Amino acid sequence: MIRELQAGATHLAYKAMSELRPDIGLESVFAEHVDNNLRPEGYRLVGFFVKEDTYAAAVAGFRIVHMLAWGQFMYCDDLSTRSAHRGQGHAGQLMDWMIDEAKRLHCDGFHLDSGLGPDRADAHRLYFNKRMRISAFHLMRPV
Ligand SMILES: CC(C)(COP(=O)(O)OP(=O)(O)OC[C@H]1O[C@@H](n2cnc3c(N)ncnc32)[C@H](O)[C@@H]1OP(=O)(O)O)[C@@H](O)C(=O)NCCC(=O)NCCS
Repeated sequence: MIRELQAGATHLAYKAMSELRPDIGLESVFAEHVDNNLRPEGYRLVGFFVKEDTYAAAVAGFRIVHMLAWGQFMYCDDLSTRSAHRGQGHAGQLMDWMIDEAKRLHCDGFHLDSGLGPDRADAHRLYFNKRMRISAFHLMRPV
């Protein structure tokens, strides 16, 4: 079952999120950071729940962004399924949910960045199967 996690329920994303983002700290630190800093910027969380567990088996974090270049679009910050729950379609269903939500909000597109290491091979297969294509290089430098 898919449901959006509102402020106050952010901690339910912790187990799945910490597998993707091991540096997020303790559960309470993660929840406070999301609720106090990310949500006011428009960040939202959606989870896939299986009935035997109160914590989400898979989560996605996303936001609506406006840019002159790309119009209004949904940007997916995070997508992660707990190791024990992979290969059952949870992340695929979360992607379908986000794309439906992007359509509902009249977005022009659905965007994300994904690293190029071998640890992202599963994710890349999923994205291509969802008809995403590589549209840009992402560049950065530390400051
Ligand atoms: C990438 C990731 C999110 C995918 O999550 P997932 O829930 O396993 O994804 P899905 O189950 O939707 O799809 C995975 C595979 O299971 C298959 N599958 C889906 N439903 C299935 C079912 N009912 N029975 C059997 N297989 C199924 C899919 O076809 C897909 O097959 P493939 O690997 O051969 O392409 C997960 O591997 C993960 O968290 N990885 C680490 C973090 C990460 O890389 N995140 C992305 C950052 S950019």
